[in-house]
Amino acid sequence: MQVTSPADARSLVTRLKNLLFGASIFLFGAFSYLYITDTRAGVHQWLAVPVLRWIYPDAEDAHHAGTATLKALYSFGIHPRERNSKAQDGADLSVEVFGHKLQNPIGTSAGIDKLAEIPDALLALGPAIVEVGGATPYPQDGNPKPRVFRLPSQKALINRYGLNSLGAEDMAMRLRERVRLFAYHNGYGIGPEAEELVLNGGAGVPPGSLVEGKLLAVQIAKNKFTKDEDLDAVRRDYVYCVEKLAPYADILVVNVSSPNTPGLRTLQRVEPLTRILEGVVGAAKSVNRKTAPKVMVKVSPDEDQDEQIEGIVEAIWRSGVDGVIVGNTTKRRHNLIPQHVDLSPKERQILDEQGGFSGPHMFERTLGLVKRYRRLLDERPPVPPPPKPEPVVKPSPSPAKPVAGPASADVITETIESAKESLAGSSGAGSAEVGGSLVDGLTRDQARQEQQHEQKVIFATGGITNGKQALEILNAGASVAQIYTALIYGGLGTVSRIKREMTEEMEMARKN
Ligand SMILES: Cc1cc2nc3c(=O)[nH]c(=O)nc-3n(C[C@H](O)[C@H](O)[C@H](O)COP(=O)(O)O)c2cc1C
Ligand SMILES: *[C@@H]1O[C@H](CO)[C@@H](O)[C@H](O)[C@H]1NC(C)=O
Ligand SMILES: *[C@@H]1O[C@H](CO)[C@@H](O)[C@H](O)[C@H]1NC(C)=O
Repeated sequence: MQVTSPADARSLVTRLKNLLFGASIFLFGAFSYLYITDTRAGVHQWLAVPVLRWIYPDAEDAHHAGTATLKALYSFGIHPRERNSKAQDGADLSVEVFGHKLQNPIGTSAGIDKLAEIPDALLALGPAIVEVGGATPYPQDGNPKPRVFRLPSQKALINRYGLNSLGAEDMAMRLRERVRLFAYHNGYGIGPEAEELVLNGGAGVPPGSLVEGKLLAVQIAKNKFTKDEDLDAVRRDYVYCVEKLAPYADILVVNVSSPNTPGLRTLQRVEPLTRILEGVVGAAKSVNRKTAPKVMVKVSPDEDQDEQIEGIVEAIWRSGVDGVIVGNTTKRRHNLIPQHVDLSPKERQILDEQGGFSGPHMFERTLGLVKRYRRLLDERPPVPPPPKPEPVVKPSPSPAKPVAGPASADVITETIESAKESLAGSSGAGSAEVGGSLVDGLTRDQARQEQQHEQKVIFATGGITNGKQALEILNAGASVAQIYTALIYGGLGTVSRIKREMTEEMEMARKN
């Protein structure tokens, strides 16, 4: 939704010029405009990030200021944006997710835009997935401030927001307004009919993102005062949020948690989860829209015991959830920061703050979890695969399917494969198996179709800071790599940088 084109803004500048200055000022202004509004501009990192931090010592205040600035810039059409997304010559980064060909496999994760104020400004920065929220049914304040802390030397954060939210209704209003504006600016009129037309795909764009090749995820959560043990109440909370927000989402994200009570058997663990998730899936399917949003669950990296992961995977299959977002912040501090790292006394103290830690330190854990989820999810199809004349090919246990889809997916799968081989410096024995075992039984296309039918989608979040890591994560079986903390320390050009690094890695792998 480009409200104002660069041309408009430039003609404004031109008028200013005629009034006040001379042609030189115009040229300077136009150049600055093009520079500042380009996500590749270094100013977003070396100027914007430190200045924001300097003006706002409190991390939460800085976040609010950043959001407000982006929102204002967007409304004037002078927001930073990725100008060369198509022209990024070289490797094609597109991936197939939920039947959509996404422009690239990078996403921003929940908590950046808690109220859904700036989804379009975030999409303009270059990711193919933006996740807004979480939103709770009723408004709630979250924890007392301060509740967000920086560890600058580690490029890490600790937060205990406690899910502050203005409520699902408020978010729905904002998202509805956005759809109506989109409809208006694209000549479909204004009002409920125009909204309906856009939401039913009449404008040729996904109803959530409103941009071809991109998707909007909306995260929902339960209110704090809703008791965990009261399953029906928890389920009602989620279903309420779905009813309000599903029309405006391409993907709904819910939080699940698998209790780790000793002696609790798998079934006892799986039942309650399954019931909650079934409620969400059911409500999402009955949304009054041509295509229902997909449902994903987000799982904590701290729930990493075999029984917990198995329980969650089982609940995913049983409830019909479409995928899982692997990773989040961690409550653990043990072995988080290597011994040899010398933290200042102040940072030591901050490290002891309660809350969820996020930072580059989490990458290996995220990677390990993605591999485990990929393997378990692929092992346990919900129903036996349909009988085939050919000998049945078991889904490969190798975590090497970042995408399940046709055409370009092929390209990226293979490129990522070879990238991984070159990164690992190995002959890629593990990954070679994939192609081999598939070709044995079915044709590649048949196998892929079957896979598409069965395979659960994985997004990964936690400690991803560069293109090489994003490739590793995709190669481990995720379809999308989401970022948050890297954006806070790297500035608004971070998504562009990560994509550029991915392209470079893939080019290098191709040449070798
Ligand atoms: C300040 C802050 C707020 C967050 N809020 C949420 C949230 O509301 N819901 C959620 O699922 N994750 C939330 N997260 C977690 C992020 O979405 C992400 O999963 C996590 O930070 C790990 O990714 P990263 O290493 O790229 O930051 C939040 C993280 C931070 C730092
Ligand atoms: C992820 O962690 C944050 C704290 O950083 C928490 O508020 C949020 O609820 C968690 N998300 C999910 C889906 O569990
Ligand atoms: C996530 O879900 C679990 C299980 O329902 C619950 O215990 C936990 O409080 C939830 N967290 C949030 C932030 O909603």
